[in-house]
Amino acid sequence: MGGGGVGSAAVNPGAGWTWGYDAYAPERERLVEALCTLGNGRFATRGSAPECAAGTTHYPGTYLAGCYDRRTSLVDGRAVENEDLVNLPNWTLLRYRRLPADEPAGEWLTPDSDELRHSTVRLDLRRGTLHRGLYFQDARGRGLRVGHTRLVHMGDPGLAAQRTTFHAYGWSGEIEVESLLDGDVANTGVERYHHLESRHLSGHRTVFAPGGVAGLSCRTGDPGHLIALAVRTDTRPARPARTTGTSTGTGQLYRLPVARGRTVRVTKTLALRTTPAHTPGDPLARAVEAAGEAPSFPALMAAHEAAWQRLWEEGELRVPGEPGRVLRLHLFHLLQTLSPHTADLDVGVPARGLHGEAYRGHVFWDELFVLPYLDLHFPDVAEALLRYRHRRLPAAREAARRAGRRGAMYPWQSGGSGAEETQEVHLNPRSGRWLPDHSRLQRHVGSAVAYNVWKYARSTGDQAFLYGEGAEILLEVARFWADSAERDPDLGRYRLRGVVGPDEYHDAYPHAAVPGVDDNAYTNVTAAWVLARGLDLLRELPAARRAELRERLALDEGETARWDDVSRRLHVPFHRGVISQFEGFGELAELDWEAYRARYGDIRRLDRILEAEGDTVNRYQASKQADTLMLGYLFRPDELAALFARLGHRLDDGTWRATVDYYLRRTSHGSTLSSLVHGWVLARLKGAGAWRYCEEALLSDVADVQGGTTGEGVHLGAMAGTIDLVERGITGLEAGPDGLRVAPVSLRQLPRFAFTLCCGGHRGVRLRVLPGRLGVRVPAGPGAPLPLVLPGDRRFTVPPGGERWFPL
Ligand code: BGC
Repeated sequence: MGGGGVGSAAVNPGAGWTWGYDAYAPERERLVEALCTLGNGRFATRGSAPECAAGTTHYPGTYLAGCYDRRTSLVDGRAVENEDLVNLPNWTLLRYRRLPADEPAGEWLTPDSDELRHSTVRLDLRRGTLHRGLYFQDARGRGLRVGHTRLVHMGDPGLAAQRTTFHAYGWSGEIEVESLLDGDVANTGVERYHHLESRHLSGHRTVFAPGGVAGLSCRTGDPGHLIALAVRTDTRPARPARTTGTSTGTGQLYRLPVARGRTVRVTKTLALRTTPAHTPGDPLARAVEAAGEAPSFPALMAAHEAAWQRLWEEGELRVPGEPGRVLRLHLFHLLQTLSPHTADLDVGVPARGLHGEAYRGHVFWDELFVLPYLDLHFPDVAEALLRYRHRRLPAAREAARRAGRRGAMYPWQSGGSGAEETQEVHLNPRSGRWLPDHSRLQRHVGSAVAYNVWKYARSTGDQAFLYGEGAEILLEVARFWADSAERDPDLGRYRLRGVVGPDEYHDAYPHAAVPGVDDNAYTNVTAAWVLARGLDLLRELPAARRAELRERLALDEGETARWDDVSRRLHVPFHRGVISQFEGFGELAELDWEAYRARYGDIRRLDRILEAEGDTVNRYQASKQADTLMLGYLFRPDELAALFARLGHRLDDGTWRATVDYYLRRTSHGSTLSSLVHGWVLARLKGAGAWRYCEEALLSDVADVQGGTTGEGVHLGAMAGTIDLVERGITGLEAGPDGLRVAPVSLRQLPRFAFTLCCGGHRGVRLRVLPGRLGVRVPAGPGAPLPLVLPGDRRFTVPPGGERWFPL
């Protein structure tokens, strides 16, 4: 993606709405499947070819938000428990072959057939549909054009459909088509996990019902979910020549006459119904009924398109050129993973979307990169995601208690239950060795949850949530930090020891017997921030609620006095004029970056390279991703300076710039979040290299920069983060109680863009950034004029129904 032409392109609403591939390339197929996934927040289906079951090239997958299953596997001689996002039965499968008159049946045709002449894949982002086109021709020149159109319904989150058309060229006869529901599936999408138990579904039951409906139900083990899928197959003739019920699936076989110039259609309409096990009612019966009653394909399509149109209006971000097209793809996948339907569910932010099985579908701290966008566009969804965390507050409290701490210790990786799900050992594919995994020591995840609570309430003005569930989360995380802080009499400061920062490369000091590092600057500064906000919140709460919370949480004045003390005296290490990533980071060895780049080319996973060499990245000043620099991502310079001042340090512009420069030269960007944060921080500093990192963040998934990982699921944090980078990073936008603050920096490659957001009680406030100018339009309607604060504390208001332009 070249920045070149982008600047001059106009905002063109019609352009940039498709994503596609013009040839079939087996080695790229998993990437295509991930990037062409369709979903509606409730469930998603990878963009796999309908002709193919799982194998080395193809990996169909359907995932239901929040549907995890816990299994025990034997790994490297020890029993390991894992909670996995379950791959559901494949509803898309459709086999077909030619039955020319007076000849034996041909081969089942697939993209891998020798007869394939041409293949295209098109994702229509505006409509939320996936189109696959194939053209087959046999040795005698008999052609068959096949087109599949798939949707996962954005209006009715229990429905999906796939219409296939066949068109014969140069022959007449029949096509044999088998519409299948395949429950013989497992979680085998990630090669590294092949040692783990992969079968999650059992108790399969199949039924056939009138009207071309076939149904399949099965269940997961722990916790038990009953899952039922029913597919209605519509074609002519409507009656199948044969139906097959196996122990794990169904097949409906049709013989369809084809003649020159005639198009034959087969439509599969899916109804998905699930319930927790042991709840009354039979989801299979409900699925069968729903599939039978589902509207026709054109009617489904119309309602689906209308639902997408509403989403695009609410989520709108218009950026010209190729960056705009990639951003739209990012937004598309974000909205398919976390849609307005998510607001009705109890689910978190899966780091890899509902697009694949990497990280087993777990929830990390990545919501820190996702919620700010949702706060501004889909506040109900943001609130639901925070409520998911609130429902798991008891689990976080229990985790803290077991660790001998008070308050709430949110897990680094989690799924359904809210328990810690981080693996204890991980495989280095380079060395083939299983290594202890200490990444669970990333306690900073709790601060991310608390930060999101605060930010959500500031952006949306939802005091009820902040004073209710939000306060409970924030105060319990604050309490955890205060209780974790150890006083060091020699330093005269508090310390947080034995943690891992966002840079997961450093999980111990070289030669140390115990894991973890001390005083990770990011962890300590964000902990101080949480403590300070906890105290602010206690002051701000209505008296009755404050009294109630103090009593319920047994939070006395003595404890909050300690919070205040800790928030002012947490240790923040420095070395040679820069903030140290953690105590002792500056004393680690310098890595010869050039030598490693020359030897290995891609050194993003430097940890694996060094371990395979018998060395360890713990010995070096080398970070996987933005760690200390995350502070510049979360806080404005004045906020950061104030935080440091509260901690007794002066953080001037020079120190911050030196710190940015120092880590830029010592980071391998082994996470897609890294380039995003570097791009953001450099853009805010008006740094020359900003675009390089922004561009890399934009390319994370579409160019699969982490070397083959996108096929295992998209990187949702980076996807959402890039949208937010334009909307908040470049504009410096903050929505708060005093209206909208905007302080744009200019990025030559993104000179103009526009988006709408919710602010000050108005939905659909539209911002337009043009070179040297900012336009703000507030939609007509009730409500107060929108206050706007521009750099230099210039204050304005924009009335409902008004639009104003400001020089920048
Ligand atoms: C990153 C984490 C991130 C996780 C899930 C890891 O590679 O280091 O920061 O939370 O991926 O996206």
